Parts: sequence; C-alpha cells; structure tokens
Amino acid sequence: MIAIRPYASGDLPTLMALFTAAVHTLGALHYGPAQLDAWAPRPPDAEDWRRRFETLHTLVAEDALGPCGFIAWQDDGRIELLYTAPRCARRGVATRLVQAAEDALSADGVTELVTEASLAAWPFFETQGFTVVEPQVVTRRDATFTRFLMKKENAA
Ligand SMILES: CC(C)(COP(=O)(O)OP(=O)(O)OC[C@H]1O[C@@H](n2cnc3c(N)ncnc32)[C@H](O)[C@@H]1OP(=O)(O)O)[C@@H](O)C(=O)NCCC(=O)NCCS
Repeated sequence: MIAIRPYASGDLPTLMALFTAAVHTLGALHYGPAQLDAWAPRPPDAEDWRRRFETLHTLVAEDALGPCGFIAWQDDGRIELLYTAPRCARRGVATRLVQAAEDALSADGVTELVTEASLAAWPFFETQGFTVVEPQVVTRRDATFTRFLMKKENAA
C-alpha cells in the first residue's frame, strides 16, 4: 500500500539517501562511475538540498517501511526530480507520483509538463505520455551526460 503526501522538512535526510541510492543503483545500468559520482556526490550536500526543496513542490510516496520515492516540480510544470528507492522499483511508485503531480498542476492551471529525462528514466516518461523533444548533452561537475528533453500536454 503506497500513500502520497507532501514533503516535510524532516524528510530531508531520508530523501537525500533515497536519491543517492536510486542514482548509484538504478542509474548504474546507463552511466559510468564518474558520471554517477557527479550526478549524486557522496556524501550529499544537505544545505544545497534544503535550499533546493524550498523552491520546489515536492510529494513523497511512502509504504510501510517509509519513503519509497519522491517527485519535485517547479511552478511552471517542469519536473526537476523523480526518484524511486531501489527496493521499490517497478512497483508503480513513479507512476503514482507523476499522476499526483499532474493533478496538482492541473488544479493550478498548468497545461504543459516538461522534464529533462535521464537515459534511465526516458522509457518511464514515455509510458506516462511524454514525448521526446530533443536529446541534450550537459556537463555537471566535469562529467558529460546525455539526456532527453520531454514534454506532455496536461489534459487532466
Ligand atoms: C525512472 C524511475 C523514477 C522509475 O521509477 P519506478 O517507480 O520504478 O517506475 P514505475 O514502476 O512507475 O514504472 C512504470 C512503467 O515505466 C516503465 N519503466 C520504469 N522503469 C523503467 C526502466 N528502467 N526501463 C524501461 N522501462 C521502465 C515500465 O513500462 C514500467 O512498467 P512495468 O514495470 O509494468 O514494466 C526509477 O527507475 C529511478 O529512480 N531511476 C533512477 C533515477 C532517474 O533516472 N530519475 C529520473 C531523473 S530524470
């Protein structure tokens, strides 16, 4: 049983750990060690994350063992973060989170969703009705990544 609830400041350590585990486990099929370390440095920078969550709308998915995923987006419909804990992968957690975000954005009158999807995530976003606009190559902390700009009209 998975529940969706708003982020609270006390979630910060758990979500940083969830992010780090998701990147280094689920991302490892698609990116090399240097890229994974650049994407999710260990240890994570708590102050940076705290500031980041302050600017975003964030929902947390939780099961009996605690948080198993989270999604965060900007006012304009840009999905910035979507991560599922490795122990919860392929159980529909990200699907529930994207649908909850879409509902919230629809209620706010936002009609277009945008994301920059990793190589690990673009097939998931396709299942949610997003389409690829263009591939992008970006550099983060001296590592180069391929990702895909994707969009969806939010008709909900
Ligand atoms: C991408 C991610 C969020 C998906 O989370 P999830 O909770 O496992 O996704 P769901 O269970 O809701 O998946 C729904 C469907 O999407 C597709 N899908 C999900 N992950 C997939 C993958 N790795 N490869 C191919 N298709 C995938 C499948 O069709 C899946 O349905 P199925 O399990 O019945 O086959 C998760 O793998 C993750 O955190 N990845 C690492 C971090 C990342 O890249 N985040 C996105 C940053 S842009």
